[in-house]
Amino acid sequence: MSEKNAAIVTESVTNAPLSTIAAIGAHEGQTVTLHGWLYNLRESGKLLFPIFRDGSGTIQGIVPKAAVTPEVFETIKGLTQESSVIVTGKVRADKRAPGGYELDVENIEVIQRVPEDDPFPISLKEHGTDFLMEHRHLWVRTPRQAAILRIRAEIIKAARDFLDDNGFVLTDPPILTPAACEGTSTLFPVEYFGEEAYLTQSGQLYIESTALALGKVYSFGPTFRAEKSKTRRHLTEFWMVEPEWAFATLDDLMGLAENFISAIVSQVLSKRSAELKTINRDTTKLEAVKPPFPRLRYDEAVKMLNDAHAKGLIEQPFEYGNDFGSPDETYISSQFDRPVMVHRYPAAVKAFYMEPDPEDPKYALCVDVLAPEGYGEVIGGSQRIHSYDLLKKRIEEHQLPIDAFQWYLDLRRYGSVPHSGFGMGIERAVAWICGLDHVRETIPFARTLNRIYP
Ligand code: 4AD
Ligand code: MG
Repeated sequence: MSEKNAAIVTESVTNAPLSTIAAIGAHEGQTVTLHGWLYNLRESGKLLFPIFRDGSGTIQGIVPKAAVTPEVFETIKGLTQESSVIVTGKVRADKRAPGGYELDVENIEVIQRVPEDDPFPISLKEHGTDFLMEHRHLWVRTPRQAAILRIRAEIIKAARDFLDDNGFVLTDPPILTPAACEGTSTLFPVEYFGEEAYLTQSGQLYIESTALALGKVYSFGPTFRAEKSKTRRHLTEFWMVEPEWAFATLDDLMGLAENFISAIVSQVLSKRSAELKTINRDTTKLEAVKPPFPRLRYDEAVKMLNDAHAKGLIEQPFEYGNDFGSPDETYISSQFDRPVMVHRYPAAVKAFYMEPDPEDPKYALCVDVLAPEGYGEVIGGSQRIHSYDLLKKRIEEHQLPIDAFQWYLDLRRYGSVPHSGFGMGIERAVAWICGLDHVRETIPFARTLNRIYP
C-alpha cells in the first residue's frame, strides 16, 4: 500500500440510508449517509462548517464541538479539500442554504485524506485557463464544470430522444476511413496495415448509404479535423450528431433543423434548470428559441454584412463569394433573437456533394444554422447530389480519389433519390446553450491545436 493511501479504511460508519445530495430533500428530518468529498471547510472556534460535494450537488454540514464525539470533531477539523469521505448526518431544511438543506453531521469516515503538504491543486480562488486546462482531470470536479457536463449529457440525450421519437434510426459509421468527406486539408492520417487511412471528419457519406436502406437515420460519434485554427470554436476532436433523410429536400431539412434545435433547448430548460442556474446562464434568451427560425439567403446575409461595414459596425469588408468567417457569423447571428438559417451559399465554397439549386446552379442547396448571441455556426447541412454523372464530375473536379468513392457513386447507380442531412457539433451547441466563451469547457477533455494532455 502506498504512503498516500495509508489512511484508507473500509468499514462503513453507519447503517443510515444512502442518499445523494440532489435527492436529500426526501429525507428531511432523517439521518442519511453521503458518499462524497470535502469541497470546503470553514472553522469558527467550536463550530465547523464543512461543505460536502458528491457530484449531484453540494451541502453544508454543521459540526458543533459539543454535538459530536471528540474523534469526529478532530477528524473534520483541518480536513483537507477534496479528501474523500463517508458522512452521516441529519437532514435539516434551511431556507438560506443554496440547496434548501443543511446536514447536522453525526459521523464521518475519511476514505483518503489529501496530504497537507500536497494539497488539491485547484483551490477555490481564481486560476488561469492554462493552469486549469493542465489540471482538467481535477478541474471537472468543480461545481461549474460538473454542471456544464450534466448539461452536455442532457443536450446529447435530447438530440437522440428527438431523432429516436421522429423515426430516425441510429446507424454508426466507421471512424477509420479511406477518404475525405469535408475536404482534404484537415485529415488526420493513420497508418492502416501499410496503407494510409484517415480519422473520419463526418459520418455523412456512410449514413447516406444507411438512409437509402432505412429511410431516416442518424449517426452520433466522434469526428476529427486537423484544424490549424486556434479559435474559440474549433476542436480537433469533437462529437457530431448527423441525421440523414431519404427523399427530403432542403426545405424539409430546414424544418427538421429548427424543430430539432428547439426541442433540445426546451428539454435542457426543463430538465437542467438547476445546472443552468449554477453556471449563471441567462435563460430568457433560451426561452425565445422556438420555430420558425428566420431564413436568409447567403446573398441577403452578405448584404447585411456590407451594410454593417458601411456603417462602421464591422471592420473588414466582406468579399462576395467567400464562406463566412467567425466574425461574419458572429455579426449575422447577433442580429436575431433565435437561430438563423442561412441557405444557398455559392456552390464553389461548399462541399463537393451538395446539390446545386435548380433555379441557379451557381448556388448550393445548403444551410448553415447560426446560433444567437454571437455563437456562430452550430449546424451545417445540405441536400445531396443524386445524379450519378454530376457527382462523378464533382469528385473529379475536387481531385478526390475516384476509386475510394466507387461505393458512394453506387448509391447513385442503384435507386438514387434526392436526400438531405445535416451535422450538429455537440460542443458548439453546448457552448451556446451554456453561454461559454470557448468550446474547451464543453467536453471533458478538449483536444486542440496546442493541447493533447491530460
Ligand atoms: O459544417 P460541417 O463541416 O458539416 C459536415 O461535416 C457535414 N458532413 C455534416 C452533414 O451534413 N451530415 O460540420 C458540421 C458541424 C458544424 O456546424 C459545427 O457545429 C461542427 O460540426 N464543427 C466543429 N465543431 C468543433 N470543432 C470543429 N473543428 C468543428 N468543425 C465543425
Ligand atoms: Mg460548416
